Amino acid sequence: MNLHVTDSGAGVPVVWIHGFPLASEMFRPQLAIQGVRHLMPDLPGFGRTRAAERELSMDDYARFVLAELDRRGIERATFAGMSMGGYVCFAAARLAPERIAGFILIDTRETADTEEARKGRYETIEKVRREGLGPIVDSMLPKMLTRNASPEMVDEVREIMESTSPAGAIAALGAMATRPDSTPLLPSLDIRTLIITGADDPITPPADAKRMAAAIPNAKAVILDDAAHLSNYQQPEAFNRAAFLWLTG
Ligand code: MLT
Repeated sequence: MNLHVTDSGAGVPVVWIHGFPLASEMFRPQLAIQGVRHLMPDLPGFGRTRAAERELSMDDYARFVLAELDRRGIERATFAGMSMGGYVCFAAARLAPERIAGFILIDTRETADTEEARKGRYETIEKVRREGLGPIVDSMLPKMLTRNASPEMVDEVREIMESTSPAGAIAALGAMATRPDSTPLLPSLDIRTLIITGADDPITPPADAKRMAAAIPNAKAVILDDAAHLSNYQQPEAFNRAAFLWLTG
């Protein structure tokens, strides 16, 4: 299936893979990074891509993204993934490491769900079936931004989250619950990696970033102050500076 992809700018290709329950729109501030061809897909059931209406795995999401690169004749790209997007990056590294020029791992982690987290995912799936997306948005929105974020920014992020379809959320919850542990992958990664995380991220805290940076051979971690889970959105200037310096370094 085709994904809706924002394809903008000229330069080294970077594919930005959004988190859950978000959409490519979460990377709008990154369009300001110069010298980059920005590819920003909406995964199935998120933003402007229709849902797949079937169960999906992280490998499926990675294949959808790789197919969009194929469609554009792009052999290699930097893969930048936020949270669930990071899980997709790890899946892509297992499936097609030769297609990955670099990693920007944003507010994500390499570990699989604990038994308890997995149970929570299946309970959330039932809740989405009964009540739609509202309860997920209400519970996750306060974790996306720190409390001093402007009301306008909070509204923007709510709107992005609300662009997720229930079918898209259900498929992604199932894929996250069944994703493998990527811990064994990290020491073997021959991929230059930048890890960026918000200092106040309650979902994937800085300890996750530091652990990944210690395990990946060629990795650097940057922790952004005054940012929670959506660090690229809340601190776009600091984020873009770190990404630009790393991309051009
Ligand atoms: C995300 O932002 O993609 C999610 O918080 C990831 C997760 O729930 O594991």
